[in-house]
Amino acid sequence: MRLSKYIAGCGVCSRRKAEEAILAGRVSVNGIIVAELGTKVAPGDAVSFDGAKISPEAKLVYIMLNKPEGYITTAREQFGRPSVLDLVPADGVRLVPVGRLDCATSGMLILTNDGELVYRLTHPSHDIRKTYISRIEGMLCEESIAQIRGGLIVDGYKTSRAHVKVLSVKEGSSLVEIAIKEGRNRQVRKIFDQLGHKIDSLRRVATGSLRLGDLRKGQWRHLANDEVAYLKNC
Ligand code: URA
Repeated sequence: MRLSKYIAGCGVCSRRKAEEAILAGRVSVNGIIVAELGTKVAPGDAVSFDGAKISPEAKLVYIMLNKPEGYITTAREQFGRPSVLDLVPADGVRLVPVGRLDCATSGMLILTNDGELVYRLTHPSHDIRKTYISRIEGMLCEESIAQIRGGLIVDGYKTSRAHVKVLSVKEGSSLVEIAIKEGRNRQVRKIFDQLGHKIDSLRRVATGSLRLGDLRKGQWRHLANDEVAYLKNC
């Protein structure tokens, strides 16, 4: 098995991050640092990551969290903001968020120690649909709706086609459902910003056909077997 796949299977990080770590000389096999991506691991080999021995996770864990606003999706940072990792069970398992939600955004976040799944779902070629509900200031005109549907230039690139639907309008603000397949940083915020609409709130309500449902903010649950199978095959 390739070394990067083995490291991801140990739940240390995604396969892509494992490749970066290998190239940076942070990984050794049988006591010897290996810096080549093609390195293979055989049963019985002792693999260390940053000097600590690692072995495949006995149990793979898949969790859906309703992330509250104000939490970051990385492990720690210099400003002391709380992390989503503070909200999910530790149980000696190293959970990794599948993709990101920005700090001000709430909603569905999948976390797992299955490095292979993280690698697949966050790979740029993977186009699972993420659905958001946003309260924006003002009303979306027909032209803006057409622009979101067809793609518009944001940060110098054209966004891919998106689904958008105005759910309701009240007191100068609109509740809008938007579904995108790309996973660029703060993409929904940038789309509305580009169209001149301030975002009051943004919540991810679905990933593919997995729905947040009535999971309350800050609460988590294990994914059911069929939900895990869906993510592995979508
Ligand atoms: N788009 C955003 O603007 N923020 C997120 O967290 C996810 C998608």
